Amino acid sequence: MTAFDALKQNSLSFKLLPISIRELFYLGETPCDIFGMSDGLFKLILRKHSFINGQVLKDLIANNHSTIFVLQDHRKALIELQQNNLRTVTRSLSIGDPIEKGRKQISLLTLNMSYLYSDPTNDDTLNLQYQSVKNLCAFLYERPEIHERLYKEFIKQKHHFIFAQPLLASLFLIGILKQSHVYSFKEVESLFITSYFKDIGMSVIPVEKYDQTSLSDEDSALLSSHPTTSIHILQGRIKLSPAHLAVIENHHLFSLLSNDLHIPDTTKLDDRSVKMISGFETMIVSITDVIAAMITPRPYRSATSLFDSLDLVKALISEDYPTEFRLIVTYFKSVFFKNK
Ligand SMILES: [Fe+2]
Repeated sequence: MTAFDALKQNSLSFKLLPISIRELFYLGETPCDIFGMSDGLFKLILRKHSFINGQVLKDLIANNHSTIFVLQDHRKALIELQQNNLRTVTRSLSIGDPIEKGRKQISLLTLNMSYLYSDPTNDDTLNLQYQSVKNLCAFLYERPEIHERLYKEFIKQKHHFIFAQPLLASLFLIGILKQSHVYSFKEVESLFITSYFKDIGMSVIPVEKYDQTSLSDEDSALLSSHPTTSIHILQGRIKLSPAHLAVIENHHLFSLLSNDLHIPDTTKLDDRSVKMISGFETMIVSITDVIAAMITPRPYRSATSLFDSLDLVKALISEDYPTEFRLIVTYFKSVFFKNK
């Protein structure tokens, strides 16, 4: 490498931002120059206005370009494009093939969740997410027959667990609540929104830190207090009643049992001091969160199957909530294991 090339690389390293190739999905052409990293060096892989489709993106992933780089000044334009994509698909959710529309909407919604986590005080991003989640709720409520397919499509999309978990938990929640025949649509909608946004307080630490096997004491403390932080972020900005904010406050109902933030330790279940009785809404939001945590992989453990996750649910609630436990099992049997 010449001295000039070295200078150029050095200057690029200050100007480029690493992003996921996911941010190019659903675009017809690149809105800016796209760089990749090969043998430790930045290289231009797609010029501005290059044609892109599924095959182009697949080839880039196959060539180790799952992480791409854009100039910092161009990032905003890319985010705006994808937010417009989300807006468009959200508005037309009920038109066309429901699987295709649903798959695209949950993918873009999850991408926007990553924008929200990196900028949680941004009202436009939060409002877009709120409106999109509301529309998704109505869409899913009307179509329980597509939940299993969407679940499978979403797992295939391989989003980071931080962003995948709230969507999966909320998808299960809507199915269970609908099957209980106890709640009106409006009540289901409020609980769906509560479940989806409950972990937004986790945005206090950068997403990269979630991939570390251990965190500093300070970061662990910040994470443990995420239910309260979620309330601070949401209060007065999205429509949630004090009762729903209380569900967020208490959504780690079972986590006192464990060092793992989202997965309780069943060996401590006999310790009556950590068992507590709670309302059905908090319990169900909490338990669907535990299931979603188990079925999404972590850097330090692989994903548990949906079927096996029900063993933990049994250990956690079958004694104190036998009727609710039966409801949850019936739901998973009828939707996810109907062919077993
Ligand atoms: Fe949480």
